[in-house]
Amino acid sequence: MTLVSARNLTKTYEKVQAVREIDLDIETGEIFGLLGPNGAGKTTTVRILSTTLQPTSGTVIIDGYRLGKDNSKIKHLIGVCSQEITLYNDLTGEENLKYHASLYKIPRHLQKVRIKDLLELVELFDDRGRLVKTYSGGMKRRLQIARALVSNPKILFLDEPTLGLSPESRRRVWKYIKNFAQDQNIALLLTTHYLEEADHLANKVAIIDQGKIIANATPKDLKDKVTLERRLQITCNQPQKVIEILKREGFPADVINRTIVLPMNNGFSIKKVLPALWDQGVEIEEILMTRPSLEDVFLKLTNNSTPEVI
Ligand SMILES: Nc1ncnc2c1ncn2[C@@H]1O[C@H](COP(=O)(O)OP(=O)(O)OP(=O)(O)O)[C@@H](O)[C@H]1O
Ligand SMILES: [Mg+2]
Repeated sequence: MTLVSARNLTKTYEKVQAVREIDLDIETGEIFGLLGPNGAGKTTTVRILSTTLQPTSGTVIIDGYRLGKDNSKIKHLIGVCSQEITLYNDLTGEENLKYHASLYKIPRHLQKVRIKDLLELVELFDDRGRLVKTYSGGMKRRLQIARALVSNPKILFLDEPTLGLSPESRRRVWKYIKNFAQDQNIALLLTTHYLEEADHLANKVAIIDQGKIIANATPKDLKDKVTLERRLQITCNQPQKVIEILKREGFPADVINRTIVLPMNNGFSIKKVLPALWDQGVEIEEILMTRPSLEDVFLKLTNNSTPEVI
């Protein structure tokens, strides 16, 4: 079932088109990764979908309700963890969650159990009585994620949930996200700069750059792209001869300086090619397989750089 459906979503500020004609659909049980560099329009998109910012144009339907018309209904369906930390520093961790639960008018007997479960989920139960101002950055981020879940949302928006976290804390947050996404049949949108994060968590990934969605893919598609761009580099004494042999075998290649570069797709088999080269007396100095990282594919798609192979 489609829980979030946006069409032609646009947000224009005086000088900037922050979001440009975005379409996206998020289904129940799905983790949707919105991936993009700084200023791409991720937060703007999240703020619009979570009712805090009015779009310039476009339509959004959330669980059958229309954004702009049924916002109070929508607010009760969603949980939001914003990019900025917006906790109350002079309350304890537990009090922050309790206060949020009271805003959502969650009955007291439910509050108690839910808050305990959430504090345990984000591994803050033992620190629940400490003032938030004494928490580390990572603890605050985890508490804020827990707070987004207090209202038991059907749709959860996490704007850069691992921003500023150490690699170890990031992995812990990934674990929580996986856990609650599995346990509850919710739809989840998460934004991130990190391809690795989208790859690890999301079933669907949209790459956003300068307000536009420039690619919609599954992490597997992105990975396949990386795999397809594997290349073999052969440095040897007779490059022209190697080129001829490769061509005969059905693998056209280029020579760059004295190095032969050939894409490793279309059934390329090193087992077949190497003996053919040896038979012809080619002396190989170096043989190297290169493959772009997921990060390179991302950079290539967003035109931030022009890496070819690493
Ligand atoms: N209130 C505003 N007034 C004018 N321009 C804005 C406003 N809010 C955002 N922008 C611009 O809109 C664009 C998108 O910003 P947004 O915060 O959505 O990006 P982002 O993808 O979340 O970036 P980051 O990864 O840095 O958080 C940027 O160019 C930003 O400067
Ligand atoms: Mg942002």
